[in-house]
Amino acid sequence: MSTLIKTAEDITHMREAGRLAADVLMMIGAHVRAGITTEELDRICHQYIVNELQAIPAPLNYGGAPGRIPFPKSICTSVNHVICHGIPTDKKVLKDGDIINIDVTVIKNGYHGDTSKMFFVGQPSILAQRLVTVTQECLYKALAIVRPGCRLGDIGHVIQQHAQANRFSVVREYCGHGIGRVFHEEPQVLHYGKPDTGITLQAGMTFTIEPMINAGTHHTKLLPDNWTVVTKDHKLSAQWEHTILVTETGVEVLTARPDENLTFLTEHAA
Ligand code: MF3
Ligand code: CO
Ligand code: CO
Repeated sequence: MSTLIKTAEDITHMREAGRLAADVLMMIGAHVRAGITTEELDRICHQYIVNELQAIPAPLNYGGAPGRIPFPKSICTSVNHVICHGIPTDKKVLKDGDIINIDVTVIKNGYHGDTSKMFFVGQPSILAQRLVTVTQECLYKALAIVRPGCRLGDIGHVIQQHAQANRFSVVREYCGHGIGRVFHEEPQVLHYGKPDTGITLQAGMTFTIEPMINAGTHHTKLLPDNWTVVTKDHKLSAQWEHTILVTETGVEVLTARPDENLTFLTEHAA
């Protein structure tokens, strides 16, 4: 268990990596519009990460395994029914009404910051807006309960409850993860589960919470490129991700952006 606890020095570096990853999402927003390709979004992020931030885009060449090419791009771009790990390509032109998740992971001084958000291209459908909002609420409800003593099953439970209360479903096959010098490390952070189960959180843990919520069923399909994950029913999917630190009193969102209002995390009922 103690291997899951970061040192003060680790935490200093994790704060910087998280801040830089959030910077990339702030930067790229202005470029997300109808007519741009996901390849162009990748190129802009890559240049910014390497040249402005002097950091490394973690996805690039990540995760090669027997029978699978390493991820070939610097960010993941997941449009509409793509759940996660969409590969940027010059064939994918964004159009009015699309929703897109951009997932950024940077390595700075050997430490990872991992975060993603949803963007609207022009005017999304009412369903798309509702899915995107509910998915962000799922993440925020999870953040709100993080503190020492909380258990991983509690996090999964609040996410699953909120998604299902809105008649959406939770993707099972992909989850949040411990993060530090290693991109994906222990523990696995499931986005569904039962209260009072799983490991107990302790101050100094750093991990991601990154719920993937589907408008239809939770079932997924992996495309032949061995990366792109889509909904089996081809209905919409949304995802939001933060990298967080468990503190003595609650949570510190290492990838918080200025466009977010996270004051609810520090306002306690009297
Ligand atoms: N950023 C993703 C996550 O949240 C992982 C992407 S791995 C890649 O864990 F290789 F697909 F980029
Ligand atoms: Co992640
Ligand atoms: Co990510």
